[in-house]
Amino acid sequence: MTGGSDFLQLDPAGIPRGRRTDWLADRLRAATGEALPVGARLPATRELAAELGFARGTVTEAYQRLIEEGLLVTNRGGGTSVAARSAPAAEIDATTAAGATGPGRGTGPDSDPDVIDLISGVPDLSAFPRTAWLRAEQAVLERADSRQLGYAPAQGVPELRAELAGWLARSRGVTTSPDRIVITGGVTGALSLLYQVLGSNGGPVVAIEDPGAEGNRRILQHWGCRTVPVPVDADGLDVEALERTDSDAVVLTPAHHYPTGVVLSADRRRRLVSWAADRDALIIEDDYDAEYRYDRAPVRAMQPLAPERIGYASSLSKTLAPALRLGWLAAPERLVGPIVERRWALDLGAPALPQLVLTELLRSGALARHLRSMRTRHRGRRDALVAALTERFPGCRVTGIAAGIYLVVLFDDDVDDQEFARRAADHGVQVQPLSTHRIRPGRPGLVISYANQSPQRLRTAVGRLAAAGRRPTTIGRSDSGSQAARLPERRRQ
Ligand SMILES: Cc1ncc(COP(=O)(O)O)c(C=O)c1O
Repeated sequence: MTGGSDFLQLDPAGIPRGRRTDWLADRLRAATGEALPVGARLPATRELAAELGFARGTVTEAYQRLIEEGLLVTNRGGGTSVAARSAPAAEIDATTAAGATGPGRGTGPDSDPDVIDLISGVPDLSAFPRTAWLRAEQAVLERADSRQLGYAPAQGVPELRAELAGWLARSRGVTTSPDRIVITGGVTGALSLLYQVLGSNGGPVVAIEDPGAEGNRRILQHWGCRTVPVPVDADGLDVEALERTDSDAVVLTPAHHYPTGVVLSADRRRRLVSWAADRDALIIEDDYDAEYRYDRAPVRAMQPLAPERIGYASSLSKTLAPALRLGWLAAPERLVGPIVERRWALDLGAPALPQLVLTELLRSGALARHLRSMRTRHRGRRDALVAALTERFPGCRVTGIAAGIYLVVLFDDDVDDQEFARRAADHGVQVQPLSTHRIRPGRPGLVISYANQSPQRLRTAVGRLAAAGRRPTTIGRSDSGSQAARLPERRRQ
């Protein structure tokens, strides 16, 4: 215990009441690593509050801020300690600096705690429901019979598929049944299985959104699919443009387009389904972050419009953690057999124990409760980011804020967003250029993943973005055409 009356020689004399939390958080932040090495336990909040003559809530709030920043952790059984440092900077995947995202990108906590990672598309990982997970795991292990510790069906544990059929119907309007669900390694696993099955009759042509998730594109190409970019506008994928292609399938994010956040309009949904029927094509619905809606009514999945034409994929990566690598596919009946055969041949299916734990979380309502609290947390973080952007860059054009865990800041056309991202990295912020997700040239910008950063870190990040440019340049013209928004930026030569 690092307690005692001389804890860090903190001297609160003269700190005004309204500044005490900030002051204490700053002192603790500065001390982690040196005076407070990894694993060091902090004094109990009550004890430190009494020593400093502060209200206990002041100390609790300061600890909480550092927990959110990943510098402190709450121990099992109570108490607070200095968190383990993550890997050194050199261990970060080189592609992360200003490039790849999504599937295949090593997520990573910030390798240098001072570097702010706005690339990793992850939820607030500090809020992972460790206690609920452990409780569910314990319940599963107490009950599991020997059969459940053997080989599960390659399609997935039957109890989980039954729970998921109900959950997907209630939460997303998906029309499916346990025998049409396949448990996968995240959305990526679901897409890969579909692409392999499509590819078994030769390299299929698959239409993709442009802009669209760069990682998904790479995975498609890996499986030998020929990709055809189709533009996305304010109503989502341009279905007329799709009709002019010779695609066998299309993969898209209709409820919340990645990365711009637009929603596929009702008209286009209907037209897309007709296109698939006319061509006998497959629609692949990537519902990667549909659980997060903030300022608008939930947008239902497309899948119920044509369950026999649409393969629907989602996962736990944005609700619990990508580390679980658990997702699912609600497949058209005719594809279930070939998909399960592929999965069996690959590795005999997903690990059974985590599937049973997830079943328990669904049954007990713990997952639904967790989601409710995550919505509130993420909304708070989004609000903090939007407020900071608006304050530092009045009038800047920000899109995709109504849902999800990312937003997009749009630049004027002549800004080089790759260069901007490199400069931001030099200032300690990893941020992703929008052009990474484009095939054809289009408006530049930044994709900012905000859910895993505390409001304080987001404010710091925006300050660093402001400092990243050498001279001010307008980046975001508001829709009205006024030219209020300015980010420091260097234009393309
Ligand atoms: C649009 C999109 N689809 C799919 C994925 C991959 O999700 P999963 O972890 O479930 O494989 C990501 C990850 O960021 C994503 O952004």
